[in-house]
Amino acid sequence: MSLMARTEHALARHFEAACGSGAPPRLVEAMRHAVFSGGARIRPQLCMAVAVACGDTQPELTDAAAVALELMHCASLVHDDLPAFDDADIRRGQPTVHKAFSEPLALLAGDALIVMAYRVMLQAAGGHHQRLALLMDNLTRGVGLPAGIVAGQAWECESAADLSQYQRAKTGALFVSATCAGAISSGSDPAPWSLLGESLGEAYQVADDIRDVMVDADSLGKPAGQDVLHARPSAARALGLEGAIAHFQRLIANAAASIPACACRDMVRQWGQREAERLVPPALCEQARRKQAAGARTAPQLRLVLP
Ligand code: IPE
Ligand code: IPE
Ligand code: MG
Ligand code: MG
Repeated sequence: MSLMARTEHALARHFEAACGSGAPPRLVEAMRHAVFSGGARIRPQLCMAVAVACGDTQPELTDAAAVALELMHCASLVHDDLPAFDDADIRRGQPTVHKAFSEPLALLAGDALIVMAYRVMLQAAGGHHQRLALLMDNLTRGVGLPAGIVAGQAWECESAADLSQYQRAKTGALFVSATCAGAISSGSDPAPWSLLGESLGEAYQVADDIRDVMVDADSLGKPAGQDVLHARPSAARALGLEGAIAHFQRLIANAAASIPACACRDMVRQWGQREAERLVPPALCEQARRKQAAGARTAPQLRLVLP
């Protein structure tokens, strides 16, 4: 089974079980809309890839940890799209949760997904109390203070923010949680896998910044040009497009070099390379060079339509 198929299967199974019966139906529908709307599922796949590299000795726990990461990510997107944050109408090519279900239900759906993430791990732990405690701690680091998603989002409310610190917290921290969770669920030391998560996570946010400038909204499945619109710190704004692409490629090379020696090293490396090319394909690099040369960083006619 591919990592993607394993992710979808685990998500569907755990989501239904964790909803139980008798919950308010519109809340459950809002949560379903947030989770089953076509995400790339990169974080749970990363967790599973590392778990496989570490022997995947407790696949049930790996699945639960991977599901928890994706639920947490989906919750962060629901809240990020609210009018109080980015005020986005479209996510994954569909109306955002607050547009489809109302702002109160979007707030509650995000909250409920955060709680569900922990509950899924609790229910899958069986007798593995120590691994569960480590997984819980690991997830709180990716989401909470001082440098998880919540901290990253809060840097947008400060008068000044360091770009790298902001991106590492907003996006990178959950990638670190993903690589570490794969190791922990398999009973391995997470420390050697941390750098892979850090590098990939920062690369992922740099790619998101490049795509925000370069790719049209239909291909993105979400509004384009948001970083300029909201005056957000962005790699494309700070480094220029070519500089941001070079930074992205350096981070991907760092990620590949950081993978610890193991039987599955090539598998993890190839998976990372495929993701990198999906996010920033060669056609986009070429278009960026032309766009920068034309000195028209945000010209809408130069936006790329990805297949
Ligand atoms: C979007 O994440 C938000 C960022 C942190 C860049 P993804 O690009 O992984 O979003 P989905 O899950 O595929 O929609
Ligand atoms: C979202 O960051 C990262 C989260 C922690 C939710 P962005 O606001 O830059 O991501 P998109 O472009 O909406 O996906
Ligand atoms: Mg945002
Ligand atoms: Mg946003």
